[in-house]
Amino acid sequence: MEGVFVSNFIDPVKARAKFPERVYVLDTTLRDGEQTPGVCFTLEEKIEIAKRLDELGVDVIEAGFPVNSEEECNTVKTIKREGLKAKVCGLARCVINDIDACIKSEVDRVHIFIATSDIHLKYKLRMDEERALTQALAATEYVKDHGLECEFSCEDATRTPIERLVRFYGSVEERGADVHNVPDTVGVMEPEAMFDLISRLKALLRKPISMHCHNDFGLATANTLAGVKAGASQIHVTVNGLGERAGNASLEQTVTALTAMYGVRTGIKLSLLKEVSKVVERSSMIPLPPNFPIVGNNAFAHEAGIHVHGVLAKAESYEPLTPEMVGQKRRIVMGKHTGKHGVANFVKEKYNLTEEQIAAVVERVRTLAIRKKKITEDDVNAVVDGILGSVPDQEKLLRLDEILVVTGNKITPTASVQLIHNSQRRVAAGIGTGPVDALSKAIQSALGEEIRLLNYKLEAISGGTDSLCTVEVMTEDREGRTAMGLAVGGDIVMASANALMESLNRIYSKREKDCQQNKQIK
Ligand code: KIV
Ligand code: ZN
Repeated sequence: MEGVFVSNFIDPVKARAKFPERVYVLDTTLRDGEQTPGVCFTLEEKIEIAKRLDELGVDVIEAGFPVNSEEECNTVKTIKREGLKAKVCGLARCVINDIDACIKSEVDRVHIFIATSDIHLKYKLRMDEERALTQALAATEYVKDHGLECEFSCEDATRTPIERLVRFYGSVEERGADVHNVPDTVGVMEPEAMFDLISRLKALLRKPISMHCHNDFGLATANTLAGVKAGASQIHVTVNGLGERAGNASLEQTVTALTAMYGVRTGIKLSLLKEVSKVVERSSMIPLPPNFPIVGNNAFAHEAGIHVHGVLAKAESYEPLTPEMVGQKRRIVMGKHTGKHGVANFVKEKYNLTEEQIAAVVERVRTLAIRKKKITEDDVNAVVDGILGSVPDQEKLLRLDEILVVTGNKITPTASVQLIHNSQRRVAAGIGTGPVDALSKAIQSALGEEIRLLNYKLEAISGGTDSLCTVEVMTEDREGRTAMGLAVGGDIVMASANALMESLNRIYSKREKDCQQNKQIK
């Protein structure tokens, strides 16, 4: 497959697998995904997510558990009435009331479930196998009598004896169930065991088999793939792997692996994956870990010097897929391991730097990375700006008009400053552990905001007490804007004040630009 650079060792596995022609994707972000602790989507968010899933190409959207509340029932109905291409499914226990709520919400498919493991039958349902089977059969018939598709799940299937699974799935099939879903409810399977289980079920059942895997041991994606290798033709997945406890199999990982590793067809447009992931991240308010496969911000980011060199020479050296394939972009990240190639690549499009200047940028980015851990492109721009020159006078939004710093033996270092900001004079004083600290506190107090000093470097240019010195600072405001300031002078305190003011001027001008951009967006 073009743009995919996976292992040759997969070929014999592919030859042995019993892949279906096509895999159907049932997305349960709006149901199991919403069961993630702390997640609660609004109606608008659910509609937006459903539309995005539809555009993405999922076959079925499990939109909720309608019996939960009148509101949930209406939400599922509203999604159904959006006229999406995807089928809309509602969850129901094997109880008439639950199924009626699904019918009321106008779904295409009802996903009925009943627990079948000893633990669940005894402690949760407090019923025996016979009664559970009777309920399952009655529920299947009720769904089919209403002309709806019926998907049936033995909850906790993977801790249920195989004979019981065959009995339940075989019997509901006789009553018209359309899909057999096999939930690994507490994520206790591993791939080989899942392959065996699905192979055995597949040999005995006629209707399509579906996978529903939880991630308690981090194996949800692997187990889902193992089930598909054994012939399962539907997968339950969630965007960003949301779901109960450790979550469900992630849509992004499972579908990309199916496509790129095994060449199995799904209806998913992979290039929309990142976008959909961002929408769900925003609405769920569950931040995606940067190292999340496929859609995480670091999934196609390269920092280490050797890696960047390799990626720039031939991207597939360190990328198993092209980032564009899944809607991502390659990012060259600056940091502690940043080599010349990474910086040069990043700045060459924007700046015309000499070899010497590049070396200076690399060194400063590395120093900064030790303190700041995460270096953004803005930080690197700030470093380059600092190296290329100071802010022109006419662009300065802040001016230091007066400054007095007192230090000595047995007195607390104290500074007072007068700043001009937007033609307004601001006067303040501060004390600190040393004169520069006192000065920084006085400036912050005059501005009425906290500014973090990320880096402060003082260097004497020549030897001797009358030596000129350079002061380099990196500051950061509350919203994370960073800027560098550089000053040269014979007086350490004045050079520090000027470097601080230069970096603050940069932060203030970035802030103005951000404000203007925000106004334009509104
Ligand atoms: O994990 C599970 O068992 C479920 C069922 C409702 C199918 O989500
Ligand atoms: Zn589940």
